[in-house]
Amino acid sequence: MKDSFGRNIDYMRISLTDRCNLRCIYCMPPEGIPKMSHVDILRNEEIVRIVRVAADLGIKSIRLTGGEPLVRKGVVGLISDIRAIDGIENISLTTNAVLLPQMAGDLKAAGLDRVNISLDTLDPEQFTEITRLGKLETVLDGIEAALAVGLDPVKINAVTVRRLNQDFYSFASMSIDRPLHMRFIEYMPVGSSSGFDNSGWGPEDVISSEEVREAINASAREKALPELIEVRDEDKPLGYGPAKYYRFPGAKGTVGFISPLSKHFCSECNRLRLTADGKLRPCLFSDVEYDLHEAVRTGTDADIAEVFYTAIGAKPDEHHDKVGTERGMSAIGG
Ligand code: GTP
Ligand code: 5AD
Ligand code: SF4
Repeated sequence: MKDSFGRNIDYMRISLTDRCNLRCIYCMPPEGIPKMSHVDILRNEEIVRIVRVAADLGIKSIRLTGGEPLVRKGVVGLISDIRAIDGIENISLTTNAVLLPQMAGDLKAAGLDRVNISLDTLDPEQFTEITRLGKLETVLDGIEAALAVGLDPVKINAVTVRRLNQDFYSFASMSIDRPLHMRFIEYMPVGSSSGFDNSGWGPEDVISSEEVREAINASAREKALPELIEVRDEDKPLGYGPAKYYRFPGAKGTVGFISPLSKHFCSECNRLRLTADGKLRPCLFSDVEYDLHEAVRTGTDADIAEVFYTAIGAKPDEHHDKVGTERGMSAIGG
């Protein structure tokens, strides 16, 4: 499926729920966000039908997101149903890993290929401060579980926020001895409910990927250790997203940077997003959405395909200066 700007759309991110078992300070207020009504949420069989139509139209890669996708009932069965669809080449999941220790084996057996795990710090106290509810140890166990069952590659996502003073070098170093892909994400202005007990996102909190990479290299120099080197395209970990990859010489894993603010990667955008309440979203930074819910409940497969064509036709060339969205990250799925 080509959009109006010639981009091939073959990747769909599906948010399974807006609920989450953590309350990261940049994502949700402490009390959580008003929940989507149960009747609005797509049922598992409806998601499977949508994916079947999408696969016929050329979608090859599916990423399940949230909120936290593993709190959704029946996620393991959903993955095996998606696995059985012709044309779907890769299924991945973005998770906070809290439930991975007990679920990784079943997820792998159901046909999940890989996971991206959200983890912003390796300091146990700071971890609890950021997530409000989480324990670092559980997430580290989740990472081990993902590696142990053979989910591959395992990527770790840290959102970088200036006022958090994260230790970038320690985080990046996790890629040296283990096959882990440690990635830094520029903090994005998504959603009005997100952010620091309602003080909100502010440009002063954004740290560009360039600055993070410089800081890592400066720490390496101080320690008389080698700096990051660029990874060639053919050596990148498998993925369909916008990250740029580096590695420490000889490291088993890589260090990636996702730079939605400092480097527009819109020209390479290959994706659509499906929200838990059945809206197709052509662009993360635009609140324009197309309703699939009605089509899937009352329409034919052709009606569903029609909504896909409309959404793809409406993909903007780039987000220009439009940032900030009505829905929060937990309702869009990143
Ligand atoms: P792979 O490369 O296939 O592993 O996937 P990914 O990096 O796209 O997935 P992941 O869910 O780990 O996304 C990491 C971060 O990148 C999330 O915070 C997303 O919000 C951000 N991101 C992914 N795609 C886009 C995009 O199209 N636009 C923007 N602005 N951010 C994106
Ligand atoms: N900016 C950038 N990334 C964010 N995430 C959540 N909120 C933001 C934000 N405002 C990240 C999560 C997760 C991914 C899906 O999105 O940490 O890794
Ligand atoms: Fe949950 Fe992810 Fe939001 Fe944290 S960032 S509260 S783990 S949805």
